[in-house]
Amino acid sequence: MQKLPPTGTIEIAPSILSADFSRLGEHIAQVEPLVKMLHIDIMDGHYVPNLTMGPVVVGKIRPHSKLFFDVHLMITDAPKYAPEFVKAGADGITFHLEAVADAQAMIGQLRDLGVAVGVSIKPGTAVATLEPVIGQVDLVLLMSVEPGFGGQSFIPESPGRAVEIKKMLRDDQRLEVDGGIGPAITPTIVKAGADTLVAGNAVFGKADPGAAIGEIYQAALSAKSS
Ligand code: DX5
Ligand code: ZN
Repeated sequence: MQKLPPTGTIEIAPSILSADFSRLGEHIAQVEPLVKMLHIDIMDGHYVPNLTMGPVVVGKIRPHSKLFFDVHLMITDAPKYAPEFVKAGADGITFHLEAVADAQAMIGQLRDLGVAVGVSIKPGTAVATLEPVIGQVDLVLLMSVEPGFGGQSFIPESPGRAVEIKKMLRDDQRLEVDGGIGPAITPTIVKAGADTLVAGNAVFGKADPGAAIGEIYQAALSAKSS
């Protein structure tokens, strides 16, 4: 099992939701040497109005990649399916606080499974909702679009929310931001405290995903040094 990269670095997590699924292996190979994390969006048609993939697909790509599999569950029944995703090769599992009745139990279950633990909130969910659990997780994933689809526009309130969450986090916890991220918004979101950037359309929607990752890294580093 891969470990979540230790904090202190900016990580880009390409989201395969925007990949051409008929060429998934090829797309993963394009990003494999350039990043440490691969973002995998799981949607069930209930928690969000879209369907993506299940443990079978995760299991099929696992032998082709050594990246940290960052599995983002957008499903109503996270406790039921989490073990299957771990068996299939997830290294970290992020669940939505809005979707899980007993967040403490879910964190305990994920700890027992031995994966990195993330919690996520949607754009309309108050940051304070994180308070009871934030000390127990490895990562907070802030949605900067409504979950469900790739290629949406970044919600402008997100950097302000990132600043609030960053104040609540320890140095050894990551702040991941997900949705609408490309080189243009990257400096703003990095200055707001994000260290883990999910990018779907801005990577796999481009003719050269490797070059696109390079542009996002450059934008992130410019924010760090300014
Ligand atoms: C949306 C997903 C995102 C999505 C991001 O619900 O959680 O991970 O793939 O895609 P872009 O970067 O295209 O907004
Ligand atoms: Zn996601």
